[in-house]
Amino acid sequence: MNLLLENKINQVLSEIFKQNQLDEKFAVVKVSDRPDLSDFQCNGALALAKIAHKNPREIATIIADNLQKYDFIDTVSVDGPGFINIKLTNEFIAANTDKIADDERLGCGTVDEPHKVVLDFGGPNVAKEMHVGHLRSGVIGESVQRIERFIGNDVTSDVHLGDWGTPMGMILSEIIATDGNLEKVTSYDIAKITEFYKNANIRCKEDETARENARKVTAELQNGNPEYRSAWQHLRNESVNAVKENYLKLDVNFDLWWGESDAHETCGEIVKLARAKGISEVDEGAEIIRLEEGNKPKPPVILIKSDGGYTYHTTDIATIKMRVDQLHAQEIVYFTDSRQQLHFEQVFEGVQKLGIAPDVKLKHIVFGTVNGADGKPFKTRDGGVMNLETLIEMSKDKVRASLPKPDEVAGYGKAEIEKLVSQIAVAAIKFQDLKNTIASGYIFELDDFAKFEGKTGPYIQYAIARINSILRKAKTNGLEPAAIMLQAPEERVLALKLAQVHNVIMRAHNEKEPSIIADYTYNLAQIFSTFYNACPIMSAESKKLAGSRLKLAKAVRDVLTLMLYLLGIEAPEVMLKAENQGE
Ligand code: ARG
Repeated sequence: MNLLLENKINQVLSEIFKQNQLDEKFAVVKVSDRPDLSDFQCNGALALAKIAHKNPREIATIIADNLQKYDFIDTVSVDGPGFINIKLTNEFIAANTDKIADDERLGCGTVDEPHKVVLDFGGPNVAKEMHVGHLRSGVIGESVQRIERFIGNDVTSDVHLGDWGTPMGMILSEIIATDGNLEKVTSYDIAKITEFYKNANIRCKEDETARENARKVTAELQNGNPEYRSAWQHLRNESVNAVKENYLKLDVNFDLWWGESDAHETCGEIVKLARAKGISEVDEGAEIIRLEEGNKPKPPVILIKSDGGYTYHTTDIATIKMRVDQLHAQEIVYFTDSRQQLHFEQVFEGVQKLGIAPDVKLKHIVFGTVNGADGKPFKTRDGGVMNLETLIEMSKDKVRASLPKPDEVAGYGKAEIEKLVSQIAVAAIKFQDLKNTIASGYIFELDDFAKFEGKTGPYIQYAIARINSILRKAKTNGLEPAAIMLQAPEERVLALKLAQVHNVIMRAHNEKEPSIIADYTYNLAQIFSTFYNACPIMSAESKKLAGSRLKLAKAVRDVLTLMLYLLGIEAPEVMLKAENQGE
């Protein structure tokens, strides 16, 4: 059960609608967009009047008159063409806020029908250094994973490693071209492996025979050449270890480390199935599924290339089959940038033709790119691609510079400072990303993103640490949180904001849009700040009022912490930054 204030109003409205033979479907309120006039608004009279060809103000007045009789309603007015504006009593809001503050889930419910969701994000490639382009998929995916779990869905996250395409043949043939064979492969670390891959790219760009060779090696690797397989296994392991290290730093987590290669067997089944269904055909030596159906013709799905190798289409289609058969996925969501839009449209249509995922929701979420100040994809100073590791280190340097040095603060040696540095740096990176709607790209703000003011991760962490400090101080002074009462307007505004937690999380879930949570979190921190300036806690007029305000503060701390958690961000107890200002 959620603790939305709307529930009670909607329930009463339904009664009123029923008694007056009005369609209950319209007995709903929404949070008012005129908080100066009301807390909630019901626009049902307008819709009803249209259907019944009646005067909306007349209908609205009947509803309002009935609503006014309930004692949790403070005021009701009919405004404009027939809007019903509702204000709740402070007592009712206070009692609800009290329940939220005491609730383990802070008033949030779960979905009515939990289902199995597979999230496909990250998607790094073997032998390719992770760069800033990999940031968004990991950061957004991790947040969505936490949101989906929190609202009750059964989630499996899978990194879907790019470990089976032509790049694999390119790198193996590059090593052979350089060393004469693959004997030294097991001595190569990730730096060496990525170097080979870079050289392979250059060579294949210039030389058609090298390209042809790489294709052949890829096909042989896929067909089980033991020497290629064992060299490839080493490359894959080294890459996975490097990728894991990067994701660990960013607190991005996966249940499964399946790769394209794991779908190999199933690729064969897909090809057989397509043949059996008569939906595949051979075209210039390749085996394809044509997709001319629908209103938007697309290039065909290529199941097998003319050289015999499977493609990115085949591995993705086979992976869907595995996720449905083995993981029992009811929904699969992918997170990539817009360049893969066509790929997923083809894959989804191919899957539909094959009939391997009936009733499974397939969704591709497309995000915009991370840009530099010039609006073009973010680059290093010398124009290269910024690798992820450098980006993380850069952010840490920035944060480190604004914190005390090790042992300057009692209990904070090097290890403790470094832990804090990474918690804050990761918050800065992730919040800067997640505060933007997924679809839009954003400019990576080198100067402001790690600041403790403005719409940043560290600002929210700081707000939490500040409340922690208030709570500690209250404890030493023997003040306990007490029943919430709302007197000052700032207390009321804060309580109303706290009552929205459930809706905010549900919207983020429905729209797969963590920025909704980021926005709310920032607003709540600001509203708290206004409240705290206007409503002192320790020096409140009475102990009861002090206890009430303390409970409000604690609830804000808990909600902010939950919200950061859902964004994949940690909330340190202490921030070592001027947090003792104020009381
Ligand atoms: N490895 C791919 C790339 O680097 C991304 C993988 C996305 N997921 C998928 N199932 N295709 O572009």
